[in-house]
Amino acid sequence: MASDSAIGIHDLSFATTGFVLPHTALAEHNGTDIGKYHVGIGQHSMSVAGADEDIVTMGAAAAAPIISRHGADQIRTLVFATESSIDQAKSAGVYVHSLLGLPSATRVVELKQACYGATAALQFAIGLVHRDPAQRVLVIASDISKYELDSPGEATQGAAAVAMLVTADPALVRIEEPSGLFTADVMDFWRPNYRDAALVDGQESITAYLQAVEGTWKDYQEQGGRSLEEFSAFCYHQPFTKMAHKAHRHLLNTCGYDTDESDIKRAIGQTTACNTVVGNSYTASVYLALAALLDHADDLSGRPVGFLSYGSGSVAEFFAGTVVPGYRAHLRTEAHREAIEGRRLLDYAAYRELHEWSFPTDGGDHPTPAQTTGPFRLAALRGHKRIYERR
Ligand code: HMG
Repeated sequence: MASDSAIGIHDLSFATTGFVLPHTALAEHNGTDIGKYHVGIGQHSMSVAGADEDIVTMGAAAAAPIISRHGADQIRTLVFATESSIDQAKSAGVYVHSLLGLPSATRVVELKQACYGATAALQFAIGLVHRDPAQRVLVIASDISKYELDSPGEATQGAAAVAMLVTADPALVRIEEPSGLFTADVMDFWRPNYRDAALVDGQESITAYLQAVEGTWKDYQEQGGRSLEEFSAFCYHQPFTKMAHKAHRHLLNTCGYDTDESDIKRAIGQTTACNTVVGNSYTASVYLALAALLDHADDLSGRPVGFLSYGSGSVAEFFAGTVVPGYRAHLRTEAHREAIEGRRLLDYAAYRELHEWSFPTDGGDHPTPAQTTGPFRLAALRGHKRIYERR
């Protein structure tokens, strides 16, 4: 039987980069009919990182409002989920810990399994709070999605970070037991350590995602989860928003329903508003879907929401959360709108320059151009060390 644990998401805040490329500019460059981007994959624009922005600056920018609202006293763990890691050894979370001035009595760790990592972090956080209900855990999911220029994946790039405070008395969403789990060893999308941009077998990745939807749902049912009809909405991982349509159609078909587009729109329509203009934010994507749902849907108090978290490779989890009555008083709708609308428009040439930008690796002193308008910046790479500063 599904059980509504008291533990869950107490606060949620997101940040993105300072720059945006509209898909119209990409379509004009490569001669693609804009309908393919706007309708075929459901994307309108993508966040692009400036030279002084990365997963740390976005992660710190997402988490800072949470710390200023709740303080840091009860936060004893910071879990940083990413697949665009900046170091093979040191957790990006340690830089964020420093930038936010968190207490030294904190456990900090980075987690990875493609886009699934943030859900692993959320479940890890729930376990810790279950053991010590006085503890609060800061979960940060931060990623920059980057594919080769002029490749099919290019239109599905993006960047964002989501920070969530996980507590025993959540104001937003209570996370339920059970979860449906699914793992399969597939090479649909991967990024070897020596590469900056991901490699992908696009059609294989869509098939693998849909198999994971089916696999997690089957396990979720076997574990005694809720029936499909009980859910008010579904937050899917959205590498591009059309993927959420494909996934929900597949779930409905798996459950024996005929599908018409209006059923799908009703279930996921409110979850795509951020991802369609931000692009793929990997680990953050499914929680950006939640932010969009909470910020824009009619009152969901007491209503169950389904989550499907997918990470290539692949690992996936289906779980439910119940929206806490009174949640609307705790939302950050205006700040989220500003984060998206405040980005500066790039033309194609400026985007290409940023895409190709990288630090020399000679160990010298390499200051970055001041580009971001966010609260934190990557100021330099000096002696192979990343130097961050608060603006
Ligand atoms: P593509 O080859 O550029 O596009 O690849 P396509 O030819 O498949 O067309 C896409 C859709 O646009 C099709 O619709 C076309 O019909 C339609 P569908 O058949 O799929 O419903 N279309 C049009 N619609 C309207 N007007 C037009 C028009 N022309 C065509 N004029 C692909 C697309 C997504 C594969 C590519 O962008 C890609 O490889 N992206 C990266 C991989 C990806 O996002 N995979 C998603 C699943 S895996 C995942 O989610 C994990 C991931 O986030 C990583 C992680 O876990 O870490 C990626």
